[in-house]
Amino acid sequence: MHNIVVLISGNGSNLQAIIDSCTNGIIKNSRIAAVISNKADAYGLQRAQLANIEAVSIAATNYANRQDYDQVLIEKIDAYQPDVIVLAGFMRILSADFVNHYQGRMLNIHPSLLPKYTGLNTHQRAIDAGDTEHGTSVHFVTEELDGGPVILQAKVPIFTTDSVDDVIERVQRQEHNIYPLVIQWLLTQRLSMQNGYAVLDGNQLPPQGYA
Ligand code: GAR
Repeated sequence: MHNIVVLISGNGSNLQAIIDSCTNGIIKNSRIAAVISNKADAYGLQRAQLANIEAVSIAATNYANRQDYDQVLIEKIDAYQPDVIVLAGFMRILSADFVNHYQGRMLNIHPSLLPKYTGLNTHQRAIDAGDTEHGTSVHFVTEELDGGPVILQAKVPIFTTDSVDDVIERVQRQEHNIYPLVIQWLLTQRLSMQNGYAVLDGNQLPPQGYA
């Protein structure tokens, strides 16, 4: 049985997709050992409890600096002996020590077609730029913010009549499809990170991953 630890800060719709995928077999032979949030009121913690998954809240305000917080986070995560660490809307910048500790085992999902629109407010920025398409990227986490090698992307159209919420919803529907797939690839060792590249089934992926 593989162990997955999921880090969240908010709603947890991606967490829910991963919970469901462990149940319905899209992710095989695996369980979410714990869900950890930096926000006590994250709705995703309730989703975890409803699914009988350990839900842990660790507020950054109790720690003097990022280094101290990340060290506590590492100790907490490692107690669950995770095979994979999944960032699912975890809205904190991670220290180099933290990232290096989980090199090749930690995934993030970012709501843009990376390398476009790293950082925040990606959907609004895509609309404001007049883009006709937007999307989401699953990537390995490296020290560069939203900059690790991309594994899989999903594209969606942006229509001129769209509100930002329309675009967010369209992107999230795709996130819920692609994130469980990539987690399954990593858990079954079809996927790895080698020399800064994502490698799938023995093939080095282009820096922007598969679309
Ligand atoms: C997701 O859309 C994810 O791509 C984004 O936060 C949302 C979390 O939603 N992540 C980032 O912006 C990270 N830079 P969820 O809590 O419903 O899964």
